[in-house]
Amino acid sequence: MRAVRLRTEYLNEPLGLGNARPRFSWTCEGDVAQSAYRIVVTRDRTVVWDSGRVESSAMTHIRYGGEPLASRDQLEWSVTLWNEQGVAGPQVSSRFEVGLLDASDWTASWISGDYTPKKHQRYPVDHFRKTFSSRGEVRHARLYVTALGVYDAWLNGRRVGRVELAPGSTDYRKRVQYHAYDVTELLVDGAGGGADAGSNTVELRLADGWYRGSIGCFGPTNVFGRQTKILSQLEITYETGERDVIASDESWQWSNDGPIRCADLKDGEIVDAALVPSFSGRARVVSEELVPVASDNVAPVQQEVLTPTLITTPSGARVLDFGQNIAGFVGFTITAHAGQKITLLMGETLDEHGEFTQANMQAKKPVKEFGRATEIMLMTGNDKRVRGELQGTPLQRVQVTLREGETDYQTAFAVFGFRYALLDTDVEVDPADFRAVAVYSDMEQTGTFDCSNGAVNQLVSNTRWSMKGNFLDVPTDCPTRERLGWTGDAQVFFDTASYLMDVASFYRKWLRDMQDNQLKSGKVSAVIPYNGIAMMYDATGGSVGWADAAVLVPYRLWKKYGDEEVLREFYPMMRRYAQFMIKNTGHKDRKKAKANPHNKYVYEKGMHLGEWLEPEEFRDDVRGKILRTEEATAYLHYTMTHLAEIALHIGEFQDADLFEEYAQGAQRAYAALFSSEADIDTDRQAKLVRPLALGLDRGEVRARRAQRLVQAVENRGYRIGTGFLSTPFVLPVLTEAGRSDVAYKMLENEEAPSWLAEVKAGATTVWEDWEGTESLNHYSPGAVCQWLFDTVAGIRVAGENTFEIAPIPGGTLTYAQAEYDSMYGRVTSRWELAAGHLTVAVSVPVNTTAHVRLPNGDMHEVTAGNHTFTIAA
Ligand code: BGC
Repeated sequence: MRAVRLRTEYLNEPLGLGNARPRFSWTCEGDVAQSAYRIVVTRDRTVVWDSGRVESSAMTHIRYGGEPLASRDQLEWSVTLWNEQGVAGPQVSSRFEVGLLDASDWTASWISGDYTPKKHQRYPVDHFRKTFSSRGEVRHARLYVTALGVYDAWLNGRRVGRVELAPGSTDYRKRVQYHAYDVTELLVDGAGGGADAGSNTVELRLADGWYRGSIGCFGPTNVFGRQTKILSQLEITYETGERDVIASDESWQWSNDGPIRCADLKDGEIVDAALVPSFSGRARVVSEELVPVASDNVAPVQQEVLTPTLITTPSGARVLDFGQNIAGFVGFTITAHAGQKITLLMGETLDEHGEFTQANMQAKKPVKEFGRATEIMLMTGNDKRVRGELQGTPLQRVQVTLREGETDYQTAFAVFGFRYALLDTDVEVDPADFRAVAVYSDMEQTGTFDCSNGAVNQLVSNTRWSMKGNFLDVPTDCPTRERLGWTGDAQVFFDTASYLMDVASFYRKWLRDMQDNQLKSGKVSAVIPYNGIAMMYDATGGSVGWADAAVLVPYRLWKKYGDEEVLREFYPMMRRYAQFMIKNTGHKDRKKAKANPHNKYVYEKGMHLGEWLEPEEFRDDVRGKILRTEEATAYLHYTMTHLAEIALHIGEFQDADLFEEYAQGAQRAYAALFSSEADIDTDRQAKLVRPLALGLDRGEVRARRAQRLVQAVENRGYRIGTGFLSTPFVLPVLTEAGRSDVAYKMLENEEAPSWLAEVKAGATTVWEDWEGTESLNHYSPGAVCQWLFDTVAGIRVAGENTFEIAPIPGGTLTYAQAEYDSMYGRVTSRWELAAGHLTVAVSVPVNTTAHVRLPNGDMHEVTAGNHTFTIAA
């Protein structure tokens, strides 16, 4: 028996880990069960920790138990497993390297371009350069870099690493991540001889990024600051053990006369390809208090590359169609004469006339930098009152002046959400000259699903693409209009996301962003990380369904990945959020408060976004001052229930009692306020789904509400009627009520609004609203995919090393299958209907067990291996 998929803090051989006592995980291959393990950690071949043989089946989150590791430590760890017969397998190893853990590890100075940025002005990309010599035989070389802005690094003309849009998005007032790169191979060794021996040049490019580029819905700029800066430390360790440090300082050359004349994360790039930076100036040393921290997350990198077809629209415009809505870069290789131009505008769709459009994703903003007052006018729909010229935002545009001969362009410091590109050029081009490159965090794909309904498979593909389009260092709502870490979206999508890809380190990083951001009151703002436009997101902060991400995400991470440390790390944040809720209970209206015996457990204060984007006929006016007592009290119950379980689990017993009191109190308050026949007798699905899903109904009310939900769905011809919050719950709630037949009809319904109506309309990603008039790349309604994995294929993680596999066939499907690379190994489930029989085939990973429940109620306990069951259909 051997260990495979060795991970250190969820990462595959991380370089620059920010953790002095990391945890190890693996999965098993061969034999049936692991009876013991032994981990040995070495540094320079010296053992720094030996766990000894531990009689245990644990294979996840085993903490390094030696002396705390130090900055730059390079470690190898190996694991030996014993099988169920006590026979040892081979020693399998992995490695990792610790990053810079202390402020004192940084000897580099922050530097910026030699100019003082002015209001209303945008600046070209900065180029920094340092030439240096290496002295002898190099053992290894590491480059540590971060920036307030976005950067890329080059050593001797070759690109360093694969990370795009580094250092990623955090609240730059509080935290900035650095990345560590292995540059040993790129360095010219000082040993040997020859004219160039030991001569090296490091170059950095610095652009605006999240720091001072436009962000959020209305695209304000300079929200974190006006002066971008960079910090770079190259450490060369020689065979002799000596170390040279090439650190950014005032000796670095600088200029901003290179080809990228303007780069904005959302608006795009303006490039003059013939320009070459002169490096005629010097960098300025600038002050900065922030101490960079390791990202400990998978980094955004270039992924799929797509080539387009060329279409000519009815008006004669030329449009490149990449066939798939993505988020990423655009690129081309074109031969032309100096000064010829090419402009590309990126968009998600064609309009009803078949013309290129950006109308579904753009808002308006002043051409000039603007402040709070303007922001308020824009947010409240008063753009008419804004003075000065307005422009669309984001522009999603690339303007390149070509050089003589071949120009090879690819976006470096902008990301676009697009499937189409409107092409404007007088150069003769071929579609094969162009490419689109998807850019997203390098998560491992962990789940696949396939069934006999091709449209359902396309829905899974669309959902996965929407995830790819939005998981770029932080989970965002959409890659176009806002590109913000909306908490509600990331919360409802967690379970689906975690089937599709390994999101553990990704969400953990985002929870740290959330922690940075929590207000003193305990309120959690609606967008994480803070993106400067605080007012809007603080006002909607605390909204139920959104802010509860502070509790629901750690909870789900714990359940799915078995990670208890996440609970402990974020418990203070969760607790403060609970206190915030508790402080704000009770009706707003005094009379109501007095009259309601359950007042203490009613929740409605603050601003709540409500169900959000139900189909048009059910939709509340989002701007109205509607009391959202129903949604808020329901979530008070739901979140307190989760919190009570968490508190109990980690031994916070007093807290657990308090949370339990509020969970039960809110349930009674809800029952008293929202369980009359008048409340239940509605066709508005969200009002029926929510209490059922969040556990608010008891006894008869529950049965009645479920029955009325079925009726509501039937009355609507099985079309969807929910918004963001309840969409993931509809099919599970119907299934639980014994009506998976109704759930299947909804899933497979092709009449709008429905998931498959989008597919039939040609969608390649998931739309924000059921009507398809807004962003076309919002993953949140794709949260239904969770049901495909956990109910249709029936795979669930039940606990450490255990699964529950309970497929529920239905609808028109004749087969369905899913594979899931869980924390405990690959589990698969496949069922097929043929000749009056249902065959269910499951495979259970080594060292785990599963309870298999067949649709006829038969239960089987199985261990590792393949198992097939056949029953009458
Ligand atoms: C975003 C959503 C978000 C919502 C909440 C929208 O503009 O795109 O995804 O959750 O606002 O208000």
